[in-house]
This record gives sequence, structure tokens and C-alpha cells, in this order.
Amino acid sequence: MSEGRILPITRWGEPVMHEVTEPVTSFDEELHQLVADMFATMEAAEGVGLAGTQVGRNLSIFVYDCPDENQVRRRGVVCNPVTVVPEGRDRNMESAEEGCLSFPGAYQPLARPDKATCTGQDEHGNPVTVVGTGLLARCLQHETDHCNGTVFGDKLSSRVRRKLDEQHAELVKLYPDDWPVTPKLKRHEL
Ligand code: NI
Repeated sequence: MSEGRILPITRWGEPVMHEVTEPVTSFDEELHQLVADMFATMEAAEGVGLAGTQVGRNLSIFVYDCPDENQVRRRGVVCNPVTVVPEGRDRNMESAEEGCLSFPGAYQPLARPDKATCTGQDEHGNPVTVVGTGLLARCLQHETDHCNGTVFGDKLSSRVRRKLDEQHAELVKLYPDDWPVTPKLKRHEL
């Protein structure tokens, strides 16, 4: 596997972002290269999670590099993720600002369960289980949603979605079309 390459991040509105993905079935060199590229792209964009759809691939996979509620940094890859959240009395909703690298510049509060358990396979096809709290719980839910063709804007009320759209419209010009291949502009560079 060569070093990861930074890929352009696909934006909301591209069909691949809004369709259910295909499962990962080949845990081969090509997949390992994709994983390396996704880590490089996530790091360049300063994200905590990145799904395959966000680099234009109709494939059920995400990478993450994200702190949990104890500020412990957790990093990994999940293929074919299934995420479950507590039900009933065990469920605690937490509202926090959420954003998406595929809709850059915009953040709005979204309530989600504060704990999530994600199961799937690693890049070699071995079973993995990731139990997430804090930001990692949000990340696991957000990235699994991407694998199912859902973006977090779909989960907002129409009023909050409007605010998100306005924020994005104002700040999107800081992000070149091939960002993060071309870095984000500084405001004074506009
Ligand atoms: Ni996202």
C-alpha cells in the first residue's frame, strides 16, 4: 500500500451522497489504498470522520479519528457499519453542533443519543465493534448515516436546515471545488 493521497471531497447534492451504498466484499489492496486515501483526506480536511461516499465511492465504509467523552483519541475503519443506539430509558439525547465535510462551513445543533455501538469489519474483513461516547457517538451515527445515503441536514427541522443552508452559502467560497486537495482559503484571500 502506498501512502494515502488527498482526494477531493464530494459535496451534498451529488447523487452518490444520497443513495444507499454497496457493501464492501473485497478486502484487497484496492480497498487498503482507498482506506489510506480516506485517512489522508480526512486529516487534510481536519475532520473526525469520513465516509466512502464523501470521496465519490458508492461503498459502505468510513474512517474516523475522533475523541470520545474522556477525550481519548480513537481511530479506525469500519466496513459495512451497523450502528445501534440505546432504546427507551437507556437513551439519553444530547444536542450539540454538528457539521459535515461535504457541506463545509456550516454547523447547527442536532440532538442524537449520547452512546452508539457500531459493528462491521475492518479493512481485512475481521469483525470490529466500536463503542462510542461523546463526539465519537455522534461521529459513528453520522458516518453510518452517510453509508445509508443520509446526510445530517436531512435530520434537521426546516427552520434549522434553512440556517444551515445560509451559513454554508456564506462560507462555501472559502472552500475550493477540489478541497482539501487545494487548501481552504483564508478570509483575506477572497
Ligand atoms: Ni458528513
